[in-house]
Amino acid sequence: MIDAFDPAWRHDPYQAYRTLREAGLFVDGPLGTSLVPGYAESAAILADPVWSHAEESDLLHPDSDVELPGSFLWMEPPDHTRLRGLVSRAFTPRTIEATRPTARRVVDGLLDAALAAGEVDLIEDFAYPLPLTMICDLLGVPASEHVAVRRMSAGIARGLDPDALLSPAELAARTAAVNEFREFFGGLVEARRADPRDDLISALGQVYAEGDRLTTTELLGTLLILVVAGHETTVNLIGNGVLALMRDPGQLDALRKDPDLALPAVEEMLRLDPPAQVTTRTARGEVTVSGRTFTPGEAVIVMIGSANRDPRAFTEPDRLRIDRYAGGEKVNRHLALGMGLHYCLGAPLVRLEVGEALRGIATRLSSITPLADPPPYRPNIVVRGMSELPVRVTG
Ligand code: HEM
Repeated sequence: MIDAFDPAWRHDPYQAYRTLREAGLFVDGPLGTSLVPGYAESAAILADPVWSHAEESDLLHPDSDVELPGSFLWMEPPDHTRLRGLVSRAFTPRTIEATRPTARRVVDGLLDAALAAGEVDLIEDFAYPLPLTMICDLLGVPASEHVAVRRMSAGIARGLDPDALLSPAELAARTAAVNEFREFFGGLVEARRADPRDDLISALGQVYAEGDRLTTTELLGTLLILVVAGHETTVNLIGNGVLALMRDPGQLDALRKDPDLALPAVEEMLRLDPPAQVTTRTARGEVTVSGRTFTPGEAVIVMIGSANRDPRAFTEPDRLRIDRYAGGEKVNRHLALGMGLHYCLGAPLVRLEVGEALRGIATRLSSITPLADPPPYRPNIVVRGMSELPVRVTG
């Protein structure tokens, strides 16, 4: 079996993905799954509701002594529809647009501090605080508690990897983080129910109080997915994206000359080095994909990072071309934010906050250079990214 999950590949899994794509459309994977490395097959599977995401928890976390609270990411209709519907209004492009001034202010403040310091860790000092502040603000978590939320979220994000790959200490840290999360957010929901404000926790607390549309587990599961998905992934998109820009100074110059390329650049960075590298699906009925028939219960690992570099779907797939999605040519959608029923709820927020981050970097920094390349990566597979990215900046 090709071990595309070998930690040795963490800084660059794309070589292994190429070998995988050349090995076939479907390749035997771990835990009795088939790996799906190509674009057409991955997109077909994600788009077809015959493939369920509800079994992922049993597949990856069979021995879990603490259930990651049920979130709609791992549900199917009708529960998925009901729960996603409760929060989707908070994430429309128009609602999210209202947060742009906050994103700009946070980016400016972080760049001021980076310029004053001269050398910073882009992950710790820039990529973490921006999405953390944005999601905590939307939810209504007080600024004094952001650090605590970050700690819980990191412990849970590591725990999204298959249980078999986690050390006893990491499993224990996940249990502790989930318990802390339950206690902290349970308390916050109570506080907002007693004293509602204009935030998402107050709105969910209200729905919860009204009766039978939301159970306690569902409420906490919804908050958990918003915090973890809304934060850890975005950190890594900023890290992976800025590293790709620093490695290709011509592209960084192009962005400086035309900061309006920030938005298409976000899409291209999502395609080139997506933070969520893999997802799973299980067939609920018999289904044929590219000539292969799957029977009910068969599971696949959709290799998002590989599909996004499939030469049958993208020209020059290994190159960062920040104008790829600028509208000049017809180009396939990337799969970095998923596709179909579970398409990323936070997509408008990702585009806004990472777009603002890139715009700030392009317009306010005259240089940004990595102090170590490749930088060290965290061991995480499902949500992959660097542990640090030291850079030198000048204004
Ligand atoms: C760069 C940042 C992000 C990436 C790469 C990302 C990626 C993804 C992907 C791939 C999925 C689909 C998973 C699957 O189908 O198996 C997804 C779903 C989801 N994302 Fe994101 N995401 C990002 C940011 C966010 C943000 C900022 C939020 C929220 C505030 C968010 C909330 C969600 C939720 C709630 C779902 C589940 C949707 C559903 O099941 O209907 N994500 N995301």
